[in-house]
Amino acid sequence: MEVIVLKNSKKIGKYVGQVIIDAIKENPKIVLGLATGSSPVTTYNYLIKDHKKNNTDWSEIKTFNLDEYIGLDQQNPQSYFQFMKNHLFNYVNIKDENINIPIGTGDYEKFAKTYDKKIAEAGGIDIQILGLGENGHIGFNEPPCDFNSKTQVIDLVESTISANSRFFNSIDEVPKRAVSMGIDSIMKAKKILLIAFGENKANAIKQLIQGEISTNVPCTILQKHKNVYVIIDKNIEKLLK
Ligand code: F6R
Repeated sequence: MEVIVLKNSKKIGKYVGQVIIDAIKENPKIVLGLATGSSPVTTYNYLIKDHKKNNTDWSEIKTFNLDEYIGLDQQNPQSYFQFMKNHLFNYVNIKDENINIPIGTGDYEKFAKTYDKKIAEAGGIDIQILGLGENGHIGFNEPPCDFNSKTQVIDLVESTISANSRFFNSIDEVPKRAVSMGIDSIMKAKKILLIAFGENKANAIKQLIQGEISTNVPCTILQKHKNVYVIIDKNIEKLLK
């Protein structure tokens, strides 16, 4: 595991964005695993800027998102489907048929069961972007998690519902369940870039880097992955000392 410390979230976006752009140049058919939430936004901004300026081609790229809220359909402005459209997909030339996001309505359980197979059929995820929950969750794999889990339905814990309420009008509107790629699904990615900034993530990062591997802190399993980069800001670094 390599830990990279950068000044702020903007610099993190530039760094992670450039890693992705370089990888696209090497393999225009790359398969990307994508996250939502605040952490990847500066990265997506950088990718959009790059596409505008350099015309980086997304037409053969396939993407698989980590998760979606149950109960929100794809047209719902709070859905992760809309999040991805608004923060990335509307601004690059990705093809709709190459975008994969778990569904949160209809037969979402059946869809979840086929998601890992779809990822495998695409050749597996080359680069997976991850954020990190304050409680150490990756994807929406809440503690205590199952390290062997595949894409499945997850009950969100109170702290996650409360943290994510900032994106909703009130906490009552935050869905209580989500479909998420499992820990095993995430661990199959060939390379993982985990982004975290802000002091509130310091404890989870400490566990990730130095803690014992435990299902009570889901991210600690990443210690066993051979190709993980943890990209944090100075605010976190100063609390690690
Ligand atoms: C989002 C996801 C979550 C978030 C995590 C951190 O797709 O899977 O694990 O990455 O909750 O969220 P932010 O980045 O909003 O702090």
